[in-house]
Amino acid sequence: MVGSAHELERETESMPQTTDTYYKRDFWSSENLKYTQPHFRMEKAARILNSISRNKQCDLLDVGCGPATLKQLLRNNINYHGIDIAIHNPAPNLIQADFLENPIKFYDKNFDFVIAQGVFEYVGNFQSQKFSEIAKVLKEDGTLVVTYVNFNHRNKNVYWPYNNIQLFEDFQKSLEQFFRIDQFFPSSHRWHHDEPKGRVMKAIQMHINGNIPFISRSFAVEYFFICSLRTLEIGEPNIVSAV
Ligand SMILES: C[S@@+](CC[C@H](N)C(=O)[O-])C[C@H]1O[C@@H](n2cnc3c(N)ncnc32)[C@H](O)[C@@H]1O
Repeated sequence: MVGSAHELERETESMPQTTDTYYKRDFWSSENLKYTQPHFRMEKAARILNSISRNKQCDLLDVGCGPATLKQLLRNNINYHGIDIAIHNPAPNLIQADFLENPIKFYDKNFDFVIAQGVFEYVGNFQSQKFSEIAKVLKEDGTLVVTYVNFNHRNKNVYWPYNNIQLFEDFQKSLEQFFRIDQFFPSSHRWHHDEPKGRVMKAIQMHINGNIPFISRSFAVEYFFICSLRTLEIGEPNIVSAV
């Protein structure tokens, strides 16, 4: 992950303390320029979205879109919208907003796809609230694609601005309160906690969308979660409207 997994500080085996600082526009307006070029995880995200949208016309919201680089990798059938605290080239399909101080939404629009990649590591104590807001903007048959760093990695690295760090199981449990996880798999497997670099290694890892028993837990760099809205059990309270 450009600007995060690559530049992470080396940490010890125990779960690191999170910073309780929320970085704002003054930080992100230069930091998110690191994402102007497509990087491995983004290319894999685009492959996933292009594949599951199956050439059908659809609307997508990219939460924490940065310089909207993902748009270049998506097919024309996907109408791209983005929201970010620091937009560099204003456009009607991009909203500049702090999504921790405002709900995640794009006017009153509902989306077939929402993607949040490289974002939930920075939402501090707002994780449940942000899942709930995403659930509200997703169409009934919509799909959420979310990534999260694997903090169970054998050699985990923690980028210093992260303020929301948890083990895979805790993130999964929290996500499952709001969504049904249809699939999850590592972005890549690596001995070191960074993204694949060589052309061959990238090409191989780009096509592996599965978990390898015992290996993935310690070697997955990040995870992709492909989710749909949960159907409530009879009598179950609706947590989406409650949060
Ligand atoms: C690590 S970058 C990831 C960028 C892009 N999603 C990618 O994967 O290349 C995190 C993005 O989230 C945005 N962001 C962070 N905090 C935010 C906030 N409170 N409100 C809106 N956007 C925020 C940053 O500006 C940045 O573009």
